[in-house]
Amino acid sequence: MDSYKILLSESEMPQEWYNIIPDLPAPLPPYLHPATGEPITPQDLAAIFPLELIQQEVSVERWIPIPDDVRRIYQLWRPSPLHRARNLEAALGTPARIYYKNESVSPAGSHKPNTAVAQAYYNRAAGIKRLATETGAGQWGSALALACNFFNLACTVYMVKVSYQQKPYRRSLMHIWGAEVYPSPTDRTNAGRHLRARDPETSGSLGMAISEAVEDAATHGDTNYSLGSVLNHVMLHQTIIGLETKKQLALAGEEPDILIGCVGGGSNFAGFCFPFVADKLRGKDIRFIGVEPTACPTLTKGSYTYDFGDTAGLTPLIMMYTLGHSFVPSGIHAGGLRYHGDAPLLCLLVHEKIIEARAYPQNPVFEAARLFAATEGIIPAPETAHAVKAAVDEARVCKETGKARCIVFNFSGHGHFDLTAYDAYLEGTLKDIEIEPDEMIKKALADLPRLPGK
Ligand SMILES: Cc1ncc(COP(=O)(O)O)c(C=O)c1O
Repeated sequence: MDSYKILLSESEMPQEWYNIIPDLPAPLPPYLHPATGEPITPQDLAAIFPLELIQQEVSVERWIPIPDDVRRIYQLWRPSPLHRARNLEAALGTPARIYYKNESVSPAGSHKPNTAVAQAYYNRAAGIKRLATETGAGQWGSALALACNFFNLACTVYMVKVSYQQKPYRRSLMHIWGAEVYPSPTDRTNAGRHLRARDPETSGSLGMAISEAVEDAATHGDTNYSLGSVLNHVMLHQTIIGLETKKQLALAGEEPDILIGCVGGGSNFAGFCFPFVADKLRGKDIRFIGVEPTACPTLTKGSYTYDFGDTAGLTPLIMMYTLGHSFVPSGIHAGGLRYHGDAPLLCLLVHEKIIEARAYPQNPVFEAARLFAATEGIIPAPETAHAVKAAVDEARVCKETGKARCIVFNFSGHGHFDLTAYDAYLEGTLKDIEIEPDEMIKKALADLPRLPGK
């Protein structure tokens, strides 16, 4: 019988994460202190991160063991299945073989718990009592709430205001797992009060919510900050996705030609692709495609330069593609893709032309998501739907050229809490935002920080 799923047993789950830093084709530019323009030191980060995570951030070890307590929680849903999308292939009439790695099977419904569990573990081990974080669509906030629940940590989530209103049920998940949730910007922090005074009607953004969570952590001794994407240690924890996928493709007797993932801050894409990027750097012919919304086109229209990771300018400066830290994307439904920057590791690889990037407007993305739901059954998160759209487009190219490529994409999460977005699509009221950002990007890029002495 033709198989639809390639499964690994729990004992086949990887025991180490893969760190791409020693394999990079160029040195990774360091984080800089905004006041001095000098590389930051581990001590600069110690106010908001535990030592183990700071060490992982700069580690040059290729393999980093996954602690047993983290593996035991991973086992609740990992290894996740790799599916062959036979029904989608048939509907498209493509000679391509399409696979997707299903990260929607985690309790929170996305890939985010892969790093949330690791971060909660290391913070707990360091004696921390509470984690503060931001969340866009609520996927990250619910993942961290879940992880804090397992490790007996309190959890405070600053949720981007537009998502707080659009996605009340992710808020419910966070409450069930014991977190407190606030619509950001709030009046609980200096950063939030300042942002509200500047624009009382603001819909919020990830950059703003990060400012609030960082300030909360920096001003409370028992509290650390936790970031759901962008940083090196987050990419590291997510590599369990790609490492499992590699084993599963080998079981299916496949070599991937094209790997695809959506990009918000870059973590699901990186975690899925980095173990294969190592193969490309050793000469294998593989294409990697990162997909983002045209409403927040960081990789496709941003500048590769140093910028703050948040809106208020509290974080170190990060070398990355950025739309400018003051860029506030429109309230598209893929809330997790509304971030002005991207992971520095991913940006370096895009800059080095190892990884391609493309952007789509909302409506064609939802059209592809509906086709996927109709054929494969699972309803993609709006973020994930960006990867679905690119996979569908690549499969259509195969149909035109008659080339039977192996296309594999990361199914980063399900959309069960995003149904108002699907309603809007079905009613024809979703707006495609494409024109406006060019002006906004120009304006936000004019606000880039100037490096001291440069
Ligand atoms: C389902 C899903 N996919 C993708 C993303 C984008 O984040 P990242 O690029 O870090 O994977 C998010 C972010 O919230 C998400 O919820």
